[in-house]
Amino acid sequence: MINELIIPKPDDMHLHLREGGMLKVVSQHSASQFGRAIVMPNLKKPVTNTELAHEYYDDIKIHTKGYDFEPLMTIYFNENLTLEELKKIQASSRVVGIKLYPKGVTTNSNMGVGSFESGYKIFEMMEKLDVPLLIHGEVNDSKVDIFDREKIFIEKYLIRAHKEFPNLRIVLEHISTKDATEFVRESSSKIAASITPQHLLYNRNELFLGGLKPHAFCLPVLKREEHRVAVLDAAISGNSKFFLGTDSAPHKRSEKESNCGCAGIYSALNAMEIYAEIFDRNNAIEKLENFSSKFGADFYKLSQSKNKIKLLRANNKIPNNIKVDNDTIVPLMAGQEIGWNCCDI
Ligand code: NCD
Ligand code: ZN
Repeated sequence: MINELIIPKPDDMHLHLREGGMLKVVSQHSASQFGRAIVMPNLKKPVTNTELAHEYYDDIKIHTKGYDFEPLMTIYFNENLTLEELKKIQASSRVVGIKLYPKGVTTNSNMGVGSFESGYKIFEMMEKLDVPLLIHGEVNDSKVDIFDREKIFIEKYLIRAHKEFPNLRIVLEHISTKDATEFVRESSSKIAASITPQHLLYNRNELFLGGLKPHAFCLPVLKREEHRVAVLDAAISGNSKFFLGTDSAPHKRSEKESNCGCAGIYSALNAMEIYAEIFDRNNAIEKLENFSSKFGADFYKLSQSKNKIKLLRANNKIPNNIKVDNDTIVPLMAGQEIGWNCCDI
């Protein structure tokens, strides 16, 4: 039995760090588990250009001073991305890609694209400059059943976009369906996917377990068991197209437990322990290293970290809540015991 894992410092390839008091708390959680993280641009005022990304980078660096942690910035896809701006993005060592949200699909996405095809001119320039496109892959059509929105997005938009721009590197973020795993597996090496802990742990029953569970609500919403199993199989398969991205997305408790609760699950504080627990429960602990520390870096053409972390088999209790400003965040697996501890060397 493996009781200890020493692996290169992992990368969180999909993370929300927010701003203000929240940023202060959650950035240090990520910095204590990960060496790098791809930071989402969906702030209240979205990060729409390189200048704003560099400002946000500086903020994150201030809050994570003393940690060996590098934020990898993203730009919020918008129609003002001219060739000149795209060249700045490509030239910046701090920016790794552009994140596209269909308008209104999730938290702070009101400035997202209305029609997917309207992005084609920009996709073409990104393809030429080899700037990766990160996609929240759900249709924003409220008439489409919420459990089908990822599948329909792939069928209606993604397959075609990949054909039109075969050299554009695309990450389908936080995949939640069997359909997504199949699409990614069958596409060229330019297509990859990030995988969250919640989509590995739970199916949609979790949302209604003994009552309505706002802290299990995220987007894409949890799906049927067959989809969870397919996403889990992809994560532990050793296929380099699938890599770690927590989508840790903190919201204050009062905003989750509300008449219109926000989508997003917070996992950053114990993320590596939780992934280790999941891989171990599925007899695949030896597959964690590449999933967390290699495949994502390779896809983004980054070198693997030379620093290491240690994961130990040991009892570990996830806190019930975490204080932020005058409120709390309820984390993934709150109050539960798991069998792995991270991260000293
Ligand atoms: C994210 C958030 O809160 O910013 N929420 C979520 O449920 N995943 C946005 C996102 O990634 O969709
Ligand atoms: Zn996200």
